[in-house]
Amino acid sequence: MNDLINKAIQMMDRSRAPYSNYKVGAAVETYDGKITGGCNVENASYPLSNCAERTALFTAITEGHSQFKALAVATENGGSPCGACRQVIWELCGDIPVYICDKNGIKNETTSSALLPSPFDESKLK
Ligand code: THU
Repeated sequence: MNDLINKAIQMMDRSRAPYSNYKVGAAVETYDGKITGGCNVENASYPLSNCAERTALFTAITEGHSQFKALAVATENGGSPCGACRQVIWELCGDIPVYICDKNGIKNETTSSALLPSPFDESKLK
């Protein structure tokens, strides 16, 4: 778990956040221990920006991973994942531990189901 947290914290340094100056790092871990990081990447056309959690997950999927056992997100003030990221975490990870961190480590240990109660997902489309 420490490697996952440290990766999320390190990823804050990769953040491209010239507009908000809010650096976010994230990391996801597969069941076989592979850790993939991501950061927020902002754009002058603000809605085109991407959150750190989604960067990490999309990168991991792109690298060929599909089964995730935990996710960590790190910010200066221990902020929680936004609503869009909660939906994507649920979709791609199901119910997993989510470690919400600042630069010193875990501030809040929660789960994707606690972050997104009554989710909309594939079960509603059948
Ligand atoms: N941000 C994330 O990277 N993850 C979240 O869950 C919340 C928001 C980013 C988006 C934007 O670059 C900056 O934080 C301020 O909203």
